[in-house]
Amino acid sequence: MARPFHDNPEKGVVREHWDTPLLRYLHDRFRVRYRYLGLPGVDLIDVNLWRDMIDEVIAFEPPGRLPNRRAAIDQLRLNMRIRNIPGIAYFGSFEEVVMLRKDFDGQHYSQNKLITLYNLDFCDEITSKVETQEHGKQVWRFEAIRQILRDQAVCFQREGSPRHFIMLLTIRNQSSGAKLHHLLTGPALLAEAKEHRQSCSVSNPFHDNSNEPLIGTHTWALKAVVFNYLLSYFNNPCLSTLFFPGVMYNGTPVAVGRGRARTTIPSPMLHWVVLCRFAEPEQVSPACWPSRYLGRSCVSVGGDPPLFWSPQTGETDGSPLAPNPVAWLEEHGSEVLRGLL
Ligand SMILES: C[S@@+](CC[C@H](N)C(=O)[O-])C[C@H]1O[C@@H](n2cnc3c(N)ncnc32)[C@H](O)[C@@H]1O
Repeated sequence: MARPFHDNPEKGVVREHWDTPLLRYLHDRFRVRYRYLGLPGVDLIDVNLWRDMIDEVIAFEPPGRLPNRRAAIDQLRLNMRIRNIPGIAYFGSFEEVVMLRKDFDGQHYSQNKLITLYNLDFCDEITSKVETQEHGKQVWRFEAIRQILRDQAVCFQREGSPRHFIMLLTIRNQSSGAKLHHLLTGPALLAEAKEHRQSCSVSNPFHDNSNEPLIGTHTWALKAVVFNYLLSYFNNPCLSTLFFPGVMYNGTPVAVGRGRARTTIPSPMLHWVVLCRFAEPEQVSPACWPSRYLGRSCVSVGGDPPLFWSPQTGETDGSPLAPNPVAWLEEHGSEVLRGLL
């Protein structure tokens, strides 16, 4: 069951100073328009901000807490109607709906047009379980991301354009040593992620068997997990990609425990933007930019300036200039932009 979303100033900085300049640049310079699939939340703050660039919204909202588990989805649907936002809101977790192809109301889910903007704006861990109607609680996030990429590939085969899309992904900067060990082991691990684990484990190790939550302390490991898994999913369909620096910010603290043991814990979050491009049929394998991504600095949300380079374990310093997603695109994006330029 998802906790109600509370906006906060740091999330506002990420939306307005990181995502928006890039979306607006692509829209103004290349006339890119957005077909949004994601988690806008009841208040649709992101959609409202990008409304003039968005043609359609495909939204998901899971059942809330008792007594009225429909409160959030009903309000989201009402807000879309009142604000004249074309699209559809599915009642259920993103994972369950895209995998089982129907929501809690029995609405059928399918993708019939290319999505140009995914906003996978999760509030919890990358491995969090979601509640499903028929299968109990499941860790379906990885498979659901694979599924939307399969759906997207089918649409691309049929329509042939647009070739580009953007994926925004946000997760809680939290996991346990045992989970990180599981995710960063085995043959599926790319050489870059393996090397990164080896070098970072010297200065900032975790215990492979521990289930204690590591809250905000092992950004290097979650970054390696996300990079490793997304990149392997992008192999098929053949998608070339530009990864933007990971952005670290503090979400609204969450209350945990009951009675006297009730307390709040911080919500460090991690956010990525990835610009994706379907390869030409003759391309043998996809490319990924920039090189040595895992060793490049993350960005943090601060005061003035609102964003600053913030190298984590295993990362080198950022550039002397303040982080800027459009400057990053101009520096590293000439190849991925092919077809738009
Ligand atoms: C972080 S908020 C969205 C914020 C919004 N994108 C913005 O920029 O203001 C995430 C929303 O999605 C819902 N949510 C969380 N996990 C979900 C999941 N796995 N599937 C569908 N909705 C989810 C939450 O209830 C919440 O309303």
